[in-house]
Amino acid sequence: MANVVVVGAQWGDEGKGKIVDWLSERADVIARFQGGHNAGHTLVIGDTVFKLSLLPSGIVREGKLAVIGNGVVLDPWALFSEIDKLSGQGVSISPDNLIIAENTPLILPLHQDLDTLREEAAGKARIGTTGRGIGPAYEDKVGRRTIRVADLADEETLDARLDRLLAHHDALRSGLGATAIDRVELKARLQDIAPKLLPYARPVWKIMAEARKAGKRILFEGAQGSLLDIDFGTYPYVTSSTTTSGAAASGTGMGPGAIGFVLGIVKAYTTRVGEGPFPTELDDADGQRLGERGHEFGTVTGRKRRCGWFDAVLVRQTCAISGVNGIALTKLDVLDGFETLKICVGYEIDGKRYDYLPTAAALQAKVTPIYEEMDGWQESTEGARSWAELPAAAIKYVRRVEELIQCPVAMLSTSPQRDDTILVTDPFAD
Ligand code: GDP
Ligand code: IMO
Ligand code: MG
Repeated sequence: MANVVVVGAQWGDEGKGKIVDWLSERADVIARFQGGHNAGHTLVIGDTVFKLSLLPSGIVREGKLAVIGNGVVLDPWALFSEIDKLSGQGVSISPDNLIIAENTPLILPLHQDLDTLREEAAGKARIGTTGRGIGPAYEDKVGRRTIRVADLADEETLDARLDRLLAHHDALRSGLGATAIDRVELKARLQDIAPKLLPYARPVWKIMAEARKAGKRILFEGAQGSLLDIDFGTYPYVTSSTTTSGAAASGTGMGPGAIGFVLGIVKAYTTRVGEGPFPTELDDADGQRLGERGHEFGTVTGRKRRCGWFDAVLVRQTCAISGVNGIALTKLDVLDGFETLKICVGYEIDGKRYDYLPTAAALQAKVTPIYEEMDGWQESTEGARSWAELPAAAIKYVRRVEELIQCPVAMLSTSPQRDDTILVTDPFAD
């Protein structure tokens, strides 16, 4: 059985939510395996728009099991406000259709504080984080001082965890000129949320193993994008988790053999929110047009997304790193009406040509993109549901993208709507 991992192949916001929602009809289990509520995944089903941050996109379909894996960092208050919001939209969520790994680390208010304090202190050198406490929460996980979901079940354990955590944070905060943590208040808040959260806590690794044995189809929903990956992204302008496909296994407790097909989600142009290098960024009318036509504003923070031409160098690189078997090319319709389109096919740095983005920040800062020009198309591709509806120039663009990134298009998306999707190869097919 081919289980499918969906990963963003650029800087996030490629349209993962839409594609996961479409694919989840064919899946039994939909699992988030990294990131937290820094993600913003949009689903458009008729007149209803769902914006999900922590909940796996499969939650909106009945009869599916949604899983939050141990690789996620979980803000329990954000979780319940999202559950309430979705309940208001008619989605019922209970431990029958949502489970959370017992070993998932928590994001606490002190993580959010630290995220904000650091960004403020960094001034111009800020990362441009979502301010959700993601980085500090992952630091505490790796630093072996975090509080995990299961720790909330036992007061003695919770006390011991709080001692260790606060010893670290109080020292940090005093260095940043912030007040010490109110331990009594924090413990009370945790004890208050525990009875709500604990019914969802399960040994996810075991349930995943059982699902696999029973031949269930598992869809892994990545958050962020490969260029925000802690190892392979444009460090330090990245998020603090592994956003590439390998994390699907470690972030839920499965072997890498459980992954059958890696679907890279790729926007037909490029966007980025926050700071950091962006070789094909456009500062002109074309960039503005992409932003307006693509409604490029962040789902989580509302920030304007930076826009630029399609960068085939970067997507070829991220497809290799995640072992992408096929891509879902999204937002093709946003390119409608351009006279000419540009695709970045290589870089020039100090007079030397590169077919990849080197790691050194000093080199990244000097990248000049080498472009290939293609004819645009004047017809509308919006809402197209078959190849036959696409103009020849649009098909040519898609074919050129495939050639340059050395990876086939498995799916194509032509509007935010769930069903405005063209399936070329079924990722779930054996
Ligand atoms: P994600 O974080 O990867 O799930 O992406 P976001 O939801 O943050 O951003 C993608 C945006 O593009 C959302 O507003 C989607 O509704 C929208 N979208 C997705 N696919 C398409 C498409 O093919 N065409 C257009 N025009 N919009 C799309
Ligand atoms: P989805 O899943 C786009 C970016 C932030 C910032 C950097 C670090 O919707 O694609 P963090 O708060 O994670 O420490 O911020 O990562 N970022 C995203 N950009 N889409 C996302 O998620 C993102 N999640 C984080 O803007 O540059
Ligand atoms: Mg998003």
